[in-house]
Parts: sequence; structure tokens; C-alpha cells
Amino acid sequence: MDYMYIAILGRQPAISLAELERVFSSVRRYSPVAALVDTESLDIQRLGGSQKAGRVVLTISGADWARASTQLIDHYVTAWKGREGKVTLGISAYGFSVSERDVQKAGIILKSRLKKAGVSMRLVPNQDVALSSATSHHNKLGLSENKVELLIVRGSDDIIIAESTGAQHITSLAARDQGRPKRDAFVGMLPPKLALIMVNLATGGKAPRPDHRILDPFCGTGVLLQESLLLGYPVYGTDLSEKMISYSEENLQWLKGAYHVTQDWKLHEGDAIKTTWQPPIEAVATEAYLGQPFSAPPSPAKLQEVRGNCTYIIGEFLKNLHPQLEPGTALCVAVPAWRGKDGLFTHLSIARETKSYGYDLLSFSTIKPGELLYYRENQVVARELLVLIRK
Ligand SMILES: C[S@@+](CC[C@H](N)C(=O)[O-])C[C@H]1O[C@@H](n2cnc3c(N)ncnc32)[C@H](O)[C@@H]1O
Repeated sequence: MDYMYIAILGRQPAISLAELERVFSSVRRYSPVAALVDTESLDIQRLGGSQKAGRVVLTISGADWARASTQLIDHYVTAWKGREGKVTLGISAYGFSVSERDVQKAGIILKSRLKKAGVSMRLVPNQDVALSSATSHHNKLGLSENKVELLIVRGSDDIIIAESTGAQHITSLAARDQGRPKRDAFVGMLPPKLALIMVNLATGGKAPRPDHRILDPFCGTGVLLQESLLLGYPVYGTDLSEKMISYSEENLQWLKGAYHVTQDWKLHEGDAIKTTWQPPIEAVATEAYLGQPFSAPPSPAKLQEVRGNCTYIIGEFLKNLHPQLEPGTALCVAVPAWRGKDGLFTHLSIARETKSYGYDLLSFSTIKPGELLYYRENQVVARELLVLIRK
């Protein structure tokens, strides 16, 4: 198969792969940091888990940097001969044992050869072998014809050269995280990137429709609702806490003022164990109750107690929701998993028993079951993402 795009995966590649596979179906892992995607178009800003994406231009056999850079230079000297206007070029290498100076050198040689051919070029300096997403975005690389970033990615037996079509807009992601008027450290701060991934895992990237509402029954301060609205979906949020509903309302009002949001939202208080939600519900994306936060692994007795509480709340929620969904409805539910001192995880039993609650656990061809764990190095409570289909 000819793959059209290559995506540079995020910090937790398994989660990035699952998102790509759910949205684009035809996905193959290419290297530890990259995946090939067979699609006509790919908008990086709609994805939470990929840092950059590019259209595949060349495949070079072998795995040698020197050979790749020579071929790349020859290719672009020919391709850009006679080109009008000044080209801005950035080069990012992935998977090679080279220094940023080696990468920069390829750019300098290309620049001087193009100069001889009458083409002027500005080279974006490499602070690292790969430009950061922030640098790529700041230089608008991939966003117009004369601003180009080459992604050079080493696979196991060949090298792909792609032209970037854009990098994740991390300043915008940070702004909508930190700019929200209401935040709450106790309910946890779901990073907008993860929220985007979860919405995509739930919807499969389906085009939004005015009657296709996404439900978050543990909406908290509304991060999932916010990211769903920005993707174009109408949303429906409920939470046990009146305070959280007012926080979500204030945050969504802020979002509407700060961004282009035209869809409706609906919010009300409700216990996820017994609420009757109003249809329609197209998909469910939620970070369920995660129990209390821990800064160090809890004692076995404490862990058992918290795990029991979470199992009860999440299990009863899934049972309450089941008859309210149409068969085939997809859910992405983040549930807790606790990391011990040994680095091993204690999971909720629900993660292995979804069938008994009336849901099939979706499997992915690019990752193994149980790999959808999101956490930072110092975190005890990880989020395990369950992608479920109502049976
Ligand atoms: C982990 S937080 C979700 C945070 C949310 N993703 C956000 O962006 O702020 C869990 C939320 O579940 C709510 N909650 C706890 N038990 C609940 C229940 N039985 N029904 C509904 N909401 C509940 C809490 O009030 C809290 O806001």
C-alpha cells in the first residue's frame, strides 16, 4: 500500500497510534516515533496525539544518514530549480544517530547549491536534530508553499522523506488550558491534548453534525466539552457537583468569546449512577471518577479501598448508561490505574470485564491491549483509556 502521510507520534506513542488508527483506519507503525497513514488529507490540529505530519515525498533504501542527506539534496536542487520567491526551510531528523550540526549541514549544502541555481533560501537553525513543534509552528513551516519542513524519518530498512503539512499548535493548546477562567486542581486537570485524543477515540473522527451530541457525564470543569466544541460537535455535560456545572458553564462561555464556537451545549447536575440523559447521544467521552489524588503510592489497604470505590462508581455508571445508548454507540472512558513503587500498574477489574457491563472493548492492530495508559513520570494515578462499543 502507498501511504500518503507520515505522522510524528507524541510522548506516549501507543495512545497516538490508537488515535490515528481510530480516525484513519489504515495506519502502520513505521518506527518507534512515527506512523504511516493512508489518507487523502490530514489536519494535525484535529489530533491530540501527533506532533507533526507530512506528505510522503521519497523513500530511500537503507538506514544511513549520509546517503539520505545526499539524495535529499539532489532531489530538492532539481525540484526547486527556477523556483520563485524565497524559500524558508527547516529540516527535522528522527531516528538517526547524528547531531544537530549534521542535520544543519545538509541544509547549508542545499542552500549553497540552490543559490548557484538562483534560488534563495532561509534555513531555520536546528537547536536539536528535530525542530520543536513550537519552532515549526512559529516559522509557519508547512503552512504555505514557500515555508517547508522536511521530515526525515528512519525506519527499520528504509528512510522516508516527507514535507510537513504543519505542527501541533502547542501554544494554542496551552492557552486554552491556562486561559480558562475556572480550573480546579482537585478534580484534576485533563490536558487538552488528551481530551482531543479521547474525543477522537470516541467519535472515530466522524464529521460533526448539529444533532450529534457528545456526552460527558463526569464533566468537571469541562475540558472534554471544550475540545469537542472546538472540533465542531455539540456537547452535553453532567456532573454530581453543582460547583463543577457552574465552572463548566463559565469556561464554555469564555470559550465562545475567545474562539469560534457556534454549536449548542447543555449542562446540568446529575449523578452518573442514576441520571437519565436526554437523547440524542452520538458518542460518550469522559474522564470518570479517578478516586483521590496521591503523591506517593498508597498502602495496599488504601489502594484496595480507592479501587473498590472507583469500581463501584464507574461500574454503576456503565450499567445506568447502557440502556440509554443505541447499540453501536462508541465511548472513550478514562479510568484510573495506580502505579506502584516497582512501576507496575494496578488496574480496575472493569477494564477486563467490559462485556459483563454490555460493552465490547475495541482492539487496535497497531498496539497491544492495556497499552492505552496516560501518565507523567511522577504520577501515581494514571489514566487508562477504554474505548468501548455498546453491544
Ligand atoms: C476526574 S474529574 C473529571 C475532570 C474533568 N475531565 C475536567 O475536565 O475537569 C471527575 C468528576 O466527576 C465528578 N463526579 C464524581 N462522582 C460522580 C458521580 N457519581 N456522578 C457524576 N459526577 C461525579 C466530580 O465532581 C468531578 O468533577
